[in-house]
Amino acid sequence: MGRINVGVIGTGWIGEIRAKVCAAHPLVESLHLAEIDRGKLERVARETRARTATADYRELLRRKDIDAVFVCTTPEDTHYPITRDCLLARKHTLLEKPIGLELKEADELMALAREGELKFTIGYTQRFNPKYAYVKKCVVDGTLGRPVTALVSRNVSRSIGHKIGGRIRLSPAVMEATHDVDFILWCLEPLRPTRVYAQSVYRIMEQAHGVPDCTWIMVTMEDGTAFTIGAGWALPPGYPHFSTATIEFVATEGALLIDDTHRDMILNTMQKGMVLPLSTMPGEQVGHVYQGPMQAETIHFIEAVALDRAVLVTPAEARQVMEVTLAADLSAERNEPVKLPLL
Ligand SMILES: NC(=O)c1ccc[n+]([C@@H]2O[C@H](COP(=O)([O-])OP(=O)(O)OC[C@H]3O[C@@H](n4cnc5c(N)ncnc54)[C@H](O)[C@@H]3O)[C@@H](O)[C@H]2O)c1
Repeated sequence: MGRINVGVIGTGWIGEIRAKVCAAHPLVESLHLAEIDRGKLERVARETRARTATADYRELLRRKDIDAVFVCTTPEDTHYPITRDCLLARKHTLLEKPIGLELKEADELMALAREGELKFTIGYTQRFNPKYAYVKKCVVDGTLGRPVTALVSRNVSRSIGHKIGGRIRLSPAVMEATHDVDFILWCLEPLRPTRVYAQSVYRIMEQAHGVPDCTWIMVTMEDGTAFTIGAGWALPPGYPHFSTATIEFVATEGALLIDDTHRDMILNTMQKGMVLPLSTMPGEQVGHVYQGPMQAETIHFIEAVALDRAVLVTPAEARQVMEVTLAADLSAERNEPVKLPLL
C-alpha cells in the first residue's frame, strides 16, 4: 500500500494531536474527522485542512476509501462500540487506552481484528518515549541482566483527575497506572503476571467523583519478579503542571534510574506564576518541533498501515494490562491480593 486515507474520531485534546500529525505526514493522502462538538470539529478541520468533517462517525466509516482510523473519544465507554464499528467497517484502528471497560469487550475487538486481518493497536504512548524505550533496550540486549524489581511512581495534576473523574467513574489504576503497567510488562515479556495487590486512598476526589486520589499496585510475575506502580491525580493544580514520574528498574547486572519529573524547565510569568511547561504525558507541538512521544506513536501507526508493518502494542498486550488494572481495583476494594487470570 502507498499513501493512505485516515480518519480521526473525537478531536479533543488527544484527537487534535493525532489529526495534526496525520495532516503533516507525507504518507497521508487525506484526513477525515468526526466530532460531536461542532465548534471543535470546525476549528480542527480548518487547521488540518481535513477533506471531510462530520458530527456522525458512522458517516466517516461508510467511506470505502478510508484505510485507518484513530478512536480518540471520551467518555471511555464509547471506546468499545465505536471501535467495534470501525473494525466491522474494515478499518485498521488505533484506539486510545483503555481497550474496553470489560475483558469480554477486549476479546470481541481482538477477534474482529483477527478475522478481518486488520491492524489493531492501543495508545500506550510512553513506549515511544526514548527514556522508556531505553529501559526496554537495556533489558533486551542484556545490559541489565535478569530483572529483579521495578518501581514507577507517577503523580498528575488534580486538573487531570477532575477532567477524567468528571466524565466517567474510572480509577487511577485503569486510567493512569495503565501506561506504567504496560511499560513494565513490556520490559518483562514474555513473563506473565500472576498476582496483584493494591491499596487506594480516598481524600479529595471521592467527594466530587467517587474515585480514589491514588492507587498503589504491586504485581508479582510468574518467576517471582515483583514490581510496584503508584498512580495519583491529586497534585495541586500549579505544580508540576501536568505529570511527574520517577522510575527505578533493578536487575541482576545493573539498574536504571529515570527522572521523568519534567522539572528541567521552569516558566514564571506575572499572570500565572511558576509552571513547568512541556510536562504533559503525550507531549505537544512547539513551533516547528514536537516534544514528547505522541507524534512518534502516531507516525508509527500511519507507517504500520501504509507500509504493512507490525504494530508495537498488540491488543493481547493491552488486554493483559487491562486485566492487571481491573485486578488492582478489585484488590483495593476487597483489601486482599487477587490472582490472575481473572475468572
Ligand atoms: N496516550 C496518552 O498519553 C493519553 C493522554 C490523555 C488521554 N488519553 C486517552 O485519549 C482519549 C481522549 O482523551 P482526551 O483528553 O482527548 O479527551 P477529550 O474529552 O478532550 O476529547 C474527546 C472528544 O471525543 C468527542 N466525542 C465523544 N463522543 C463522540 C462521538 N460519538 N463521535 C465523535 N466524537 C465524539 C468529544 O466531543 C471530545 O471532543 C481518552 O480515552 C484517554 O484515555 C491518552
